[in-house]
Amino acid sequence: RYAVVLAAGRGERLWPLTSTRPKPLLPLPGGETLLSRLLRQLQGLVDGVVVVVAGGWAGEAVRRHLEEKGLAASYAVQREQRGTGDAARVGVEALPRGVDEVLLVNGDLLVSRGLLEAVAGAGAPALAAVPSERSWEYGVVDIDERGCLRGIREKPADARPGSLVSTGVMLLPRGRLEELLRGLKPSPRGELEVTDALTALAAEECVRIVTGDWLWMDVGRPWEVIEAYKAVFRERMGPRREPLVEGEAEPGAVLRGPVYVAPGAVVRSGTVVEGPAWIEGEAGPLARLRPWSFLLRGSRAGAHTEVKASILMEGAKAPHLSYVGDSVVGEHANLGAGTVTANLRFDHSTVKMTLKGRRVDTGRRKLGAFIGGYAQTGVNVSLLPGVRVGAYSWIYPGAVVSRDVPDCSFLAPRGQEYVVE
Ligand code: UTP
Repeated sequence: RYAVVLAAGRGERLWPLTSTRPKPLLPLPGGETLLSRLLRQLQGLVDGVVVVVAGGWAGEAVRRHLEEKGLAASYAVQREQRGTGDAARVGVEALPRGVDEVLLVNGDLLVSRGLLEAVAGAGAPALAAVPSERSWEYGVVDIDERGCLRGIREKPADARPGSLVSTGVMLLPRGRLEELLRGLKPSPRGELEVTDALTALAAEECVRIVTGDWLWMDVGRPWEVIEAYKAVFRERMGPRREPLVEGEAEPGAVLRGPVYVAPGAVVRSGTVVEGPAWIEGEAGPLARLRPWSFLLRGSRAGAHTEVKASILMEGAKAPHLSYVGDSVVGEHANLGAGTVTANLRFDHSTVKMTLKGRRVDTGRRKLGAFIGGYAQTGVNVSLLPGVRVGAYSWIYPGAVVSRDVPDCSFLAPRGQEYVVE
């Protein structure tokens, strides 16, 4: 039995975080990425893994990353991003001879190992499903009286909270899967979908549904990155209520509740940290970290900076006088002194974002900014709720950013306005 892991997608909805890395390489607290975590979890469950990657820099980044982590895999290149069904076909065609069962997994999933174990042990064909409070955002599974898959309804408006949704993790017989994938036709959204192959198979034989109370998150939209970090934190810290300091907390630093300070990290004097918080970088002196602050390796929240429910990725810096709330700051981005994210609208309504050209209600009243890797803001920049700043972009001092700024651009003043150059 082999696993085929799909990691060739464009990750457009997660722009600008995916301008500098493919989505499955998003870093997690503790030094793993989504993909490296998944490959580690698959160890012992399968005899080998084929990772489907895109051509060019993105595919190279995946290979290099897994090599550095010492995780063995073989690779298949999907040249054109035509959908999950096409990616699965590319992966299945690259399987060695003699493999007759395929564990298909999306490379952007955050799951508990129990889920993978259950599917791997179920006997093909099987699909894992989990109850979801927001079932209408996913593929709701319909099951017959024997416990077999009857069909999957994509994002049905009438779904109830708690209904079972497809995790996309499935164990399938190789031969028939390959035929079905080769025969796929584009779906209404113009993509080749694994789900269509699965439902075709369900019409022929019983696809067993395995369910359980597992962690399952599909990390596809910007705010889900923050939720994924919370889930990893809960998993790592368990019910712990007090700080765990493996690095340094200087005299005069105050740590309250479940705060993790990693080896090599430092919380400087005068800093107040209210857990849950995860610190692999440097906090303070005189910083304030509120619940769900995540500072990855090399990052820094400096004097008079306040962070709340936000991520500072590797090497990201908010050195002076900033407020970072419900936001993600990409790797090596630098916030000029006084850069502030607004995370609540005056009218307190939910924040909307445009994802893949569609206006989407995030369902959140509190949502800040998403800043791409290596971007820089000048002093006193204000970022309005839900705004994204492209990777490598520069924002002129004093700018009020009310619209997304593309990658590699310069937001500069022209008359009374700021425009992208
Ligand atoms: P998603 O549709 O969630 O990912 O596919 P995406 O296409 O990268 O994201 P958006 O829609 O542009 O924001 C689920 C999984 O399938 C892979 C993705 O890498 C992800 O792990 N995938 C998707 C492919 O490998 N190839 C494709 O053509 C599409």
